[in-house]
Amino acid sequence: MVHLTAEEKDAVLGLWGKVNVQEVGGEALGRLLVVYPWTQRFFESFGDLSSADAVMNNPKVKAHGKKVLDSFADGLKHLDNLKGTFAALSELHCDKLHVDPENFRLLGNELVVVLARTFGKEFTPELQAAYQKVVAGVANALAHRYH
Ligand code: HEM
Repeated sequence: MVHLTAEEKDAVLGLWGKVNVQEVGGEALGRLLVVYPWTQRFFESFGDLSSADAVMNNPKVKAHGKKVLDSFADGLKHLDNLKGTFAALSELHCDKLHVDPENFRLLGNELVVVLARTFGKEFTPELQAAYQKVVAGVANALAHRYH
């Protein structure tokens, strides 16, 4: 559960309407893999991850980034029930994939970085504050099964 004011919710959803999930998702996941290389071990089946260029242009990274961001978007529609919304994914990432939950926070921060890069001045401090709450809420919901 994240506590956003009505204005924050409007602002978050307003910006989200302009997000190209394919592009932003691919870049956020790509940056996770480049900046925190240990995360690559989960994606060995994705093929060439040998350089930053290879990662950022890898079609499987882009496709998976879109999948992740579509699911994130689903969370935006259920800000009052993130734990329920991400219950199955929490089970997948915890019980099956054994992803360290710290990595959910890292991916959330990559998403914020990419939003800042994409929207520049439009990504105001207020908007960032609202998005930080959302990515923290999603990371908590995904980590739920670990506790
Ligand atoms: C905001 C955080 C995240 C969200 C919303 C998310 C969402 C998803 C979704 C929707 C799937 C596809 C599930 C399916 O096909 O049924 C998935 C799969 C997967 N996720 Fe995540 N994920 C997140 C973070 C991470 C992180 C940080 C890692 C690892 C560092 C990770 C590793 C994986 C792997 C390995 C798969 C399976 C990929 C495959 O082989 O198809 N996820 N995730």
